[in-house]
Amino acid sequence: WARFLQIVGGATVVTVGTLGVFYYATQKDRTPGVQLPHDPSKKTLVVLGSGWGATSLLKSVDTSDYNVIVISPKNYFLFTPLLPSVAVGTLNPRSIIQPTRYVTRHKARQVSVIEASATEVDPVAKTVKFEDTSEIQGLVSTTTVNYDYLVFAVGAEVQTFNIPGVKEHACFMKELEDAEKMQRRFLDCLESAAFPGQTQEEVDRLLHMVVVGGGPTGIEVSGEIHDFLEEDLRSWYPELANNVKITLVEALPSVLPMFSKQLIDYTESTFKEASIDILTKTMVKEIKEKSVVLQRPDKSIVEVPCGLVIWAAGNKLRKVTQDLMAKLPQAQTNRRGITVDEHLRMAGTDGSIFAIGDCSATSYAPTAQVASQQGAYLARIFAQIAKRDNLEARLRELQSAPQAEETAAEVTSVTKQLAKAEKLRPFQYSHQGSLAYIGSDKAIADLPFFNGNLATGGVATFLFWRSAYLSTLFSLRNRTLVATDWIKVKLFGRDVSRE
Ligand code: FAD
Ligand code: NAI
Repeated sequence: WARFLQIVGGATVVTVGTLGVFYYATQKDRTPGVQLPHDPSKKTLVVLGSGWGATSLLKSVDTSDYNVIVISPKNYFLFTPLLPSVAVGTLNPRSIIQPTRYVTRHKARQVSVIEASATEVDPVAKTVKFEDTSEIQGLVSTTTVNYDYLVFAVGAEVQTFNIPGVKEHACFMKELEDAEKMQRRFLDCLESAAFPGQTQEEVDRLLHMVVVGGGPTGIEVSGEIHDFLEEDLRSWYPELANNVKITLVEALPSVLPMFSKQLIDYTESTFKEASIDILTKTMVKEIKEKSVVLQRPDKSIVEVPCGLVIWAAGNKLRKVTQDLMAKLPQAQTNRRGITVDEHLRMAGTDGSIFAIGDCSATSYAPTAQVASQQGAYLARIFAQIAKRDNLEARLRELQSAPQAEETAAEVTSVTKQLAKAEKLRPFQYSHQGSLAYIGSDKAIADLPFFNGNLATGGVATFLFWRSAYLSTLFSLRNRTLVATDWIKVKLFGRDVSRE
């Protein structure tokens, strides 16, 4: 009995202790302290965007050095890697977003968060014009702000190649509302297929899901739809489940060109087992209300009936990015995005504009990993710039003061420190590996291993994928919500009610 009570007592102490630490951490996050007000003597740092690049910068930047203003049409950060899981109801949409104010309210100095879209940047006058594009607007909805430094981190938008019908009939997978729309439409297809008296041909059409693009987004969405089908729809729509068909269409000869050959083969065989059809060397030419028009490898055209098309065919630059680049035609000639130097400063400017993430054109793939490392790098650069500015001001002060022995010594010391502060380290990307979920509780990973690459796929990689993303989530709140959603789905399955 004594031993038993000892074990129970120990376990209780550990549980209560853990809960106490957890409670303390959550309450600390919920009660931000008093912040310094904006200081007119400090430089203004304007950040455009609240995605991977911008949020990573905001997390690390020392706001005691700057007056920071964030402008973004979304007042939150979206954890894109888990977006496909929202589209099938594995995760709650709110679990993968983090309000920007939850980050900025913890900074030393106040940060202005403005929910608006930047519409124009003037690199000569150093201004940004922005507009409230939300549903509800006040008396003022357009204005301009001056900047000393601008971080351009507006990401990219969905590339449609102006293919007819894409915007009108397909679902994208880029924003939170895209995933919610896909979930609604997918369930609508099922309910319409269940409507009494539907012909078999119409049932087959409604239940044919076409995913366009064999990049990681298309692969992950196809895998998630498959899981939803196998784990839930078979139970709740037994009469329809066998008619659900998933087709992935890719223009190139293979899916996932950025992964190693072994993992491409593994994905293709996993999809085959899961009855997901992959059509490679096949290009979507048009999307109609009830069908997709495909060009097959032999160039013949075929119209395939379907209920839902998910468009995941890559990125293109936003208009605000294209307009800014057009103002610097000599230096900005790369159609993929903003050309930057090794310190991420926009080419053709005086060094006051920095571009990071998907809107910039670098030698790296447009990924969250790159954008977040660039954001963290810029936070360090801004700290160094502030230090340099302070040293320059001190030097000016000393040089204008009457010459004394101590002053001369300090001038030498400050000059030395200044020379050091002026040397900015170039940005260096450290690749942590590529990961993708492929459905059926399997994931693939290309990981740097010593000087080579470790390619792995399967259920263990899926557990690694989950733990990697759980730890990458920006806050304890998100981690708790996502982990709870995963447990809820394991226990109760996904919700099939249509909002
Ligand atoms: P974003 O994160 O897109 O942020 C851009 C921000 O700018 C947004 O807040 C937007 O609201 C804002 N904005 C837009 N227009 C304006 C404007 N006019 N003015 C001001 N602000 C504006 N990468 C990985 O490394 N690993 C993954 O697993 C992964 N999974 C992904 C899954 C999906 C479904 C998708 C779509 C992408 C995925 N990516 C992944 C890619 C990754 O999301 C992007 O590379 C990353 O978001 C780029 O960061 P960013 O800061 O440049 O842009
Ligand atoms: P992507 O650009 O990687 O892939 C799009 C695919 O669509 C291409 O393979 C292209 O050939 C195909 N395509 C284009 N037009 C087509 C048409 N008309 N018909 C048929 N196929 C067509 O785009 P994706 O997957 O959205 O990824 C964008 C970026 O985000 C990439 O850099 C990617 O690495 C990153 N990302 C990374 C993830 C991960 O690491 N797990 C997950 C999702 C995205």
